[in-house]
Amino acid sequence: MQISSLIPETKSIRLSFKGTVGLVPTMGYLHEGHLSLVQKAKRECDHVVATIFVNPTQFGANEDLSKYPRDFKRDSDLLESLGVDLLWSPTAEIMYPPGYQTWVEVEALTKGLEGAMRPGHFRGVATVVAKLFNVIQPDKAYFGQKDAQQAAVIRRMVKDLNFPLEVIVCPTVREADGLAMSSRNVYLSAEERAAATVLYRALSAAKDLYEAGERNAEKLRERMKGVLSSEPLAQMQYVSCADYDSLEELDVVIGKTLLSMAVFFGKTRLIDNFVLG
Ligand code: PAF
Repeated sequence: MQISSLIPETKSIRLSFKGTVGLVPTMGYLHEGHLSLVQKAKRECDHVVATIFVNPTQFGANEDLSKYPRDFKRDSDLLESLGVDLLWSPTAEIMYPPGYQTWVEVEALTKGLEGAMRPGHFRGVATVVAKLFNVIQPDKAYFGQKDAQQAAVIRRMVKDLNFPLEVIVCPTVREADGLAMSSRNVYLSAEERAAATVLYRALSAAKDLYEAGERNAEKLRERMKGVLSSEPLAQMQYVSCADYDSLEELDVVIGKTLLSMAVFFGKTRLIDNFVLG
């Protein structure tokens, strides 16, 4: 596996690859969810490029960028063992040199859910992902369903800006008790970690209701809220039952639907979702 940092060096390694290239963008501190993206990219593409970049522009003023977990050696060993061809890990100065002033804004899709709670977050995500696409020029790019709004924003950006690539959204990888894998899970105390299974339980309860025939979106939201409120350590920020593509809140569930939520356990904020239909 080659490891690069500078953009010209990264581009020339990428250009040496013959055949299709799959890109797996990450912020590092890899877990099984990231590895499943790499494995899928390996199966589908001739070459795989992974990136590790803790992107400062997607962190809000109240979100501690300096405390984001990092372990470059462990991450690069894991990526190498999976047969990644190139690991690109730029610095913030490389991505945002002095004088930087160009941003990508996906509009309506970023107004609600995570976008409402984390102003500016998706502007940072869309901008950095566009830059990663421009440097690597992948045929396919892999993202996790766990960050459902991020996936929707990137699909929209790719369509709107005519990026010549396919966005592949892969299923959420879960712990045995249902907790979605996330780099942020390391922040949970033992008690919070046990309580955090309530996200999966709440989503499952709403899905059961849907499968029993309920199509009133408010009833599904109430079901999720009911389960969340049974867990004293869980502080709900939002629950949503929205159209899968537009992310608009629904009255009646018809077609592909996203059930999603954000919940605090102490200072740790977790998100999770299920897709219905
Ligand atoms: O999902 C992430 O880890 C990040 O938001 C991404 C897509 C790598 C952009 O920084």
